[in-house]
Amino acid sequence: MSPRGPGSHRGGTHPSAVPSHSPCISSGRTCPAPFRIGPGPFEGIGRTWEDSLTSDNAWTTHNSSGALRVVVTKQLPGDRWLEILTQAGCRVEVYTRTDILRSDEIKAAIGGRCDAAIGQLTEPWNADLLAALKAAGGRAYSNYAVGYNNVDVEAATRLGLPVGNTPGVLTETTAEMTVALTFAAARRVVEADRFMRAGLFQGWLPTLFLGELLWRKTLGIIGAGRIGSAYARMMVEGHKMNLIYYDPHQNGELEDYICAYGDFLTQHGEQPVTYHRATQVEEVFAEADLLSLHPALDPSTHHLVNAERLSRMKPNAILVNASRGPVVDEAALVEHCRTHPDFRAGLDVFEDEPAMQPGLADLDNVVVVPHIASATSWTRQGMATLAAGNVAAILLGYPAWPSADISAFLGDNPPKAAPSIVNASALGLPTFE
Ligand code: DGY
Repeated sequence: MSPRGPGSHRGGTHPSAVPSHSPCISSGRTCPAPFRIGPGPFEGIGRTWEDSLTSDNAWTTHNSSGALRVVVTKQLPGDRWLEILTQAGCRVEVYTRTDILRSDEIKAAIGGRCDAAIGQLTEPWNADLLAALKAAGGRAYSNYAVGYNNVDVEAATRLGLPVGNTPGVLTETTAEMTVALTFAAARRVVEADRFMRAGLFQGWLPTLFLGELLWRKTLGIIGAGRIGSAYARMMVEGHKMNLIYYDPHQNGELEDYICAYGDFLTQHGEQPVTYHRATQVEEVFAEADLLSLHPALDPSTHHLVNAERLSRMKPNAILVNASRGPVVDEAALVEHCRTHPDFRAGLDVFEDEPAMQPGLADLDNVVVVPHIASATSWTRQGMATLAAGNVAAILLGYPAWPSADISAFLGDNPPKAAPSIVNASALGLPTFE
């Protein structure tokens, strides 16, 4: 099944088109039904409803009379996700503050009875935490993310817990941010902005902020899945770059696309673009003028970018990372950028978030943003819809959706299925026919 992104959902309902309710918060405001706060069937189990009215307003409860209890560790955007959970008969308890909950705090929130949880990529959903969810009667967990390196899926499978994620709505959004980081780094946009704001511009100069032209150069991609190939297409189509990629799986669809685009260019009297699938990752490091990282984080990709591989790169190459921070040995990158002033990096993710490696913030040849590659309203609401859809469907006994195309779940009549359960086949879950 071909990976799809938001661009393939144009026929569906845009999440923001869903009639809007103000999410109910425990602030004393009148809450629109059906998300009214009130005592429900869970008093004495985990947090009490009174807890949600404590002065710090840390937790809020929606649809308090719901028979199933779902804990959500961060406020999510939009209302559709709450409608989905409410319609599934869930009482939804949401942590409304922005600090990152520790494992013991999440366990306390799960308490003695919790039917499902929606958690964040910043939380360690390891065997211990998943076991606490299971022991509380948990039947489903969904990450509010497409990546799930923070979840011990094997442990979840052993516990019989389905694990959901939110693919398909981040693809183009993340790829676009990767493009933004690419040009911010290549054309020194942030440095130049700082220069302007400091009042240092004294007139046009032939040598002011010289950067790198990417047109017709070589783009390297590591990880040619959904996001990697969407970014590759943006750079190949838009900037006529030749592609070299490394991925354990051949991406025939991407290759065919580049071939067809090359033919199109030839027919228009232009030089075609080319692709090459590298058999060794080192080849990509050596040849790329621009290298973008898109692998999943696992033990095989931890510190995939290290001092030795950086030393193979062109001195004026650009490295972009919007995947996961630990894919890059950040200390090695700081050292490389320090000693190679013409080398540039654009980073959305960091090895030890929210911290940055000492020295990184001092480097003018690095552009940094706080893990926001998927941060558009459409995408973040879509992620909420999918995460809620995952847990609601499992609680209702629905089967797993068998396709990577989740666009049907963004419309008005979503299928009666769980949009994306990563361990569905390991658990032998039935699939939607
Ligand atoms: C994800 O979903 O995995 C991203 O990193 C957050 O958008």
